[in-house]
Amino acid sequence: MTLQGRELILGVGGGISAYKSADLLRRLQDVGFGVTVIPTRSSLNFVGTSTWEALSGRPVNPSLWSSVHEVPHIKAARGTNLIVVAPATADLLAKIANGICDDLLTNTISASKSPIVLVPAMHPEMWLNQATVANVTTLRARGILVIEPDEGRMTGEDFGVGRYPEVSRIVSEISKFVDLNSDLLGKRILVTAGGTREAIDPVRYIGNNSSGKQGLAIAKAARNRGAEVVLVSANIAHENLDGIKTISVESTAQMQEALSQEFPLCDAIFMAAAVADAKPTRINSEKIKKGALNSIDLEANPDLIAALAKTAKPSQVLIAFAAETGAKDIKAAQDKLARKGVHLLFLNDVSDGAIFGSDMTSGFILNVDGSKIACPQQSKDTLADLLLDQALIKLG
Ligand code: CTP
Repeated sequence: MTLQGRELILGVGGGISAYKSADLLRRLQDVGFGVTVIPTRSSLNFVGTSTWEALSGRPVNPSLWSSVHEVPHIKAARGTNLIVVAPATADLLAKIANGICDDLLTNTISASKSPIVLVPAMHPEMWLNQATVANVTTLRARGILVIEPDEGRMTGEDFGVGRYPEVSRIVSEISKFVDLNSDLLGKRILVTAGGTREAIDPVRYIGNNSSGKQGLAIAKAARNRGAEVVLVSANIAHENLDGIKTISVESTAQMQEALSQEFPLCDAIFMAAAVADAKPTRINSEKIKKGALNSIDLEANPDLIAALAKTAKPSQVLIAFAAETGAKDIKAAQDKLARKGVHLLFLNDVSDGAIFGSDMTSGFILNVDGSKIACPQQSKDTLADLLLDQALIKLG
């Protein structure tokens, strides 16, 4: 099965090897997962919530009985794409096999429709105990991946099968179990979204209609494909952007500043934001009375993407967008692509407000090599993946 998103719950059971899950958490983040940790109460004897909060960058709540109004087990179960329990103790294996729900983790597992991976770790006697063997058989028969433990030294003097497996093997078995589609792993993608605003006075601004949906779709798709994503967001409301570094800006000058910091570090930039072409020559410090609002003197803003193209390394890929009304003139768009010095340009027709705010889009992807791809009516999510595919070809 292919995972569409990369939200993962890491359940931590009460075994001494719980500390090894700190490394597992990091490696799962490396392959693009946003990780939420749900420890069992007994595991907190080995590793505390602060460790999980610091490593995951998210709050950790092991209890079913806090934030009850949010129905935490259902919220957790619906918000995840994969559940990994490591270490999975004999007790947890027994509970999950028998549908016992007595804490947040086991309730979440019971309520979830996501794939489940269990990483048992326990003393050999417990792993080979007939009850555990029967539980593992039951769990595997239900399509749950139960990873074989390693053989080796246990806590104390013991030796045998039951060790927490090497983290690299766990990640590799998870990758085989679910198709992670991580073709952008190791790439750093910079995305701008929304529209910049230029203040006229403390209450008015020059702005535009960009909803930011296309940029957000690209940022999320890139994250889901394993990229490290930086989003420069201008004046748009966000939903869940876990795993995406977000820099909020208002004006073109602020966006330029953010890009000057982030662009040198990225492999590709998707300049989906609508940048205000001009700004008032001066911002009035007080609200202008309407009688005095006859005209506003403007000065041009710099062309941000064209300026970045001039400083870009040969390996960096630049993608621009052109929103045109009645965009039938592909030649004009090809000239724009050349003028801005970008590799790809998505040309869409926004006549009649057809695209702004919509979840759907249509247009052409123009390539610096002169080729073009027609993109008939499709979702912005679909176009996001198509644009990433094209950028990936250029990234090599
Ligand atoms: N862009 C930019 N800086 C600007 C204006 C636009 O980086 N000051 C970027 C946009 O983010 C977009 C692309 O350039 O990716 C095309 O924007 P568009 O407004 O179509 O281009 P303009 O250069 O403003 O051309 P036009 O004269 O057609 O308005």
